[in-house]
Amino acid sequence: MRGLALRDGELTLVEDVDPPRLGPGEVEVQVLAASVNPTDLELAAGVYDAGLAEAGRLHLPRTGLELAGVVMRGGERFREGDEVFGYIDLLHGDKTHQERIAIGEDALALKPPELSFVEAAALPLGAQTSLVALREEVGAQPGQRVLVNGASGGLGVYAVQIAARLGLHVTAVAGAGQGAFLEGLGAHRVLDYATVDVREASETFDVVFDLTTRLQFAEIAHLLGTDGRFIPSEPLKAGVDFTEGAESGQRSVDLWVPRGDGELLGEVVGWVRDGSLRVVVDSVFPFAEHAAAFRRLREHGKRGRVVMTLEERD
Ligand SMILES: NC(=O)c1ccc[n+]([C@@H]2O[C@H](COP(=O)([O-])OP(=O)(O)OC[C@H]3O[C@@H](n4cnc5c(N)ncnc54)[C@H](OP(=O)(O)O)[C@@H]3O)[C@@H](O)[C@H]2O)c1
Repeated sequence: MRGLALRDGELTLVEDVDPPRLGPGEVEVQVLAASVNPTDLELAAGVYDAGLAEAGRLHLPRTGLELAGVVMRGGERFREGDEVFGYIDLLHGDKTHQERIAIGEDALALKPPELSFVEAAALPLGAQTSLVALREEVGAQPGQRVLVNGASGGLGVYAVQIAARLGLHVTAVAGAGQGAFLEGLGAHRVLDYATVDVREASETFDVVFDLTTRLQFAEIAHLLGTDGRFIPSEPLKAGVDFTEGAESGQRSVDLWVPRGDGELLGEVVGWVRDGSLRVVVDSVFPFAEHAAAFRRLREHGKRGRVVMTLEERD
């Protein structure tokens, strides 16, 4: 079975990946499309090696979090032949840059027929993480003001849409040329990070959602209202002190969404089906062109996710 493995420090498409072994509560899925995202670069660089080694999976495909595909061996919730999509566990078990995986049924949802496999693979991580951040962690209320920094990327395109759906006033920060695109997703205002430094803004927001890992609480505290919330996408990297701002009621949010949640994904599917949430695919590459997919991931100007297709031998 084919999959991406690290050989001499390079991600390489190899043929000798072991077939999946199902654990309790898992089904086997043939992966037809899988996204690449910034966490894959960290997985490849060994940032999560300790957790993967513990699971005995260090040399197996260790990249790939999102997928869409077909159930090959069913379980309690999903049957053979079901078309599914989901977000595999970051720290445990298989990753999605391989042809077949074992995955917990609770990390999957049925793929809506309105979406192709490529589109479905571009949806779960960004939509679920944005939903958890804005609704579950912050409890954002209609009329509140949110700043989404890094709005055109794989997470940002959903953060903007879900914030607008929750009734928030959305200020999006992105690179040049993304204005009309982000307004089309529901942003009320779009700032170009090349010409505006958000840290120097004088207005305030109820929520600052940073998807760039560039902002620190101390730099943006003056942008937060009295009970404002800062959501750094990578709290550890942002060096967050969760007690900072406590006196004023401001807080940083400890965002940690390491795997799919079938129930939340099912809710997201409802929004896709009623046309109120748009899936954004930046580009598509055959599995054999994985190096080009990872190159695109590192470039500026992406809109949404980069996705690889695995269905055919290419
Ligand atoms: N905590 C959790 O549980 C969790 C879960 C999932 C993901 N994450 C994290 O979320 C982060 C975002 O992921 P993603 O998939 O959205 O990444 P992405 O697709 O690479 O998007 C990052 C965005 O940041 C923009 N950007 C770059 N420099 C900027 C600047 N100076 N000012 C404003 N925007 C800038 C990029 O725009 P350009 O194209 O112009 O460069 C890009 O649109 C990652 O760090 C990921 O690890 C965390």
